[in-house]
Amino acid sequence: MKKLLASYGRDDEFRAVAEQIIEEEEGKNNKVLARTLRRTLEHGAARGDKARTLAPLIPFPHAASDFVERVEPEHTKGDLILSPRNAGVFAGLLQEYRRSDDIRRHGLPVRSKLLFCGPPGCGKTLCAEVFAAELGLPLFVVKLDSLISSYLGETASNVRKIFEFAQKQPCVLFLDEFDALARSRDDTGEHNELRRVVNSLLLFIDRIQPRGFLVAATNLDQSLDPAIWRRFDEVVWFDKPDRRMAERYLAMKFKNVSVAFEPRSVAASVDGFSYAEIERVCIQAIKAAIIGRRKQTTLDDFRAAVSDEKRRRSGNDRLSNAI
Ligand SMILES: Nc1ncnc2c1ncn2[C@@H]1O[C@H](COP(=O)(O)OP(=O)(O)OP(=O)(O)O)[C@@H](O)[C@H]1O
Ligand SMILES: [Mg+2]
Repeated sequence: MKKLLASYGRDDEFRAVAEQIIEEEEGKNNKVLARTLRRTLEHGAARGDKARTLAPLIPFPHAASDFVERVEPEHTKGDLILSPRNAGVFAGLLQEYRRSDDIRRHGLPVRSKLLFCGPPGCGKTLCAEVFAAELGLPLFVVKLDSLISSYLGETASNVRKIFEFAQKQPCVLFLDEFDALARSRDDTGEHNELRRVVNSLLLFIDRIQPRGFLVAATNLDQSLDPAIWRRFDEVVWFDKPDRRMAERYLAMKFKNVSVAFEPRSVAASVDGFSYAEIERVCIQAIKAAIIGRRKQTTLDDFRAAVSDEKRRRSGNDRLSNAI
């Protein structure tokens, strides 16, 4: 890192040091990071625009670090199953981002505030991570729960700092569990203070023109307040997999495993499951074979894992009914 900073302004030297860092990361098996770094380096070089290539990385406001975390993407596009419609939405957003300078020059806005909606375990968080990696942008995850409670205290200015940061630094700012905010807005009566806080957060979201993207995720759907919807340029739905998507997902999960059945053929048995639930079933089935010291995962392993997941789900239903 020292060498990299010392080479600032000397293109050849800078490139050599950057290549060395990338190779080191490859050597450490940090493949996603290495790939992202290489893409960023090539992208900068291809633009041939010195001033922009050497734009400084703005230090992250440390005071805000309690509720913002920089996350290093661990997943790639190959780990994410997207419906054809969503794949189209993301391809469009990527293209738009890459031509954002031209679009802005024509006086037109660039879509940069996205709302991800859908039931738990259907890829909202995963997609935010993969999206950042695809863009070659750093990912900052904001923990809304702690942010709201800290906002109630004395650290209101930290919120401003986060938004100011995202306004200057190209990044993906991810507001996970956005439900916390939506729910707080519903609260009436004694929570006036909370409401004021939430409204001012919404105002920040309104005003920000991110250099990268602001992405919020929620698993509340229809009940979401229209005042929240309209602040986003794009709303993306993450649904539970239909039969065909479940087939693709099962094939992907058993890709590197020896199985005694055709993964796609068992998709019907996970109808109505989320991706996260199907993933848990696959992991359980594979583990059963390991525990039984068998080389292959069998259909029985899979079936047992499915019924175990169903048992678990009925437990969940009972829990939520009790609440
Ligand atoms: N569309 C998908 N493609 C591939 N894997 C998925 C997908 N959706 C979920 N998964 C798997 O399930 C796990 C959990 O998904 P994720 O955290 O993205 O869900 P979420 O929609 O953010 O849920 P929550 O609303 O609970 O935050 C992922 O780490 C991944 O292993
Ligand atoms: Mg999530």
